[in-house]
Amino acid sequence: MRISLTVNGEPLEADLWGGESLLMVLRDTLELPGSKNACEQGECGSCSVLLDGALVCSCLVLGAQAEGHEVVTIEGLAGDEDLHPVQQAFVDAGAVQCGFCTPGLVVAVADLLERSPHPGEDEIREALSGNLCRCTGYAKIFDAVRLAAERA
Ligand code: FES
Repeated sequence: MRISLTVNGEPLEADLWGGESLLMVLRDTLELPGSKNACEQGECGSCSVLLDGALVCSCLVLGAQAEGHEVVTIEGLAGDEDLHPVQQAFVDAGAVQCGFCTPGLVVAVADLLERSPHPGEDEIREALSGNLCRCTGYAKIFDAVRLAAERA
């Protein structure tokens, strides 16, 4: 089947089979590899994207469900010249080690700060509870969230 969708502001079409996830469509068909494929069970958050402004695990969304909808991936957050403020905060706070979790975390933090520009500690922890990081111990990630919120 063929679907039409908007990705990072660009109207696109994609051919897919009925059981294909949005994550696979983004990575394999539309050549946007920023969203990472890790657990494929909605447990780790590495594939997080915004679907019509709502944070979703793209591995749990069928590609066909994106027909007519708007998707924003990590590739769509930054401007042409500058990093997104959340990306910059991750760099400045040293919140990236292997980086595999980083795209999903950045999308989740951008979503959090859009909804709540100055989140409390519990709010930050709850917002990131669906994003697993195997490297950092999370302290630097929380520092990055606070830094991005301070700069907003
Ligand atoms: Fe390696 Fe988070 S930086 S999984």
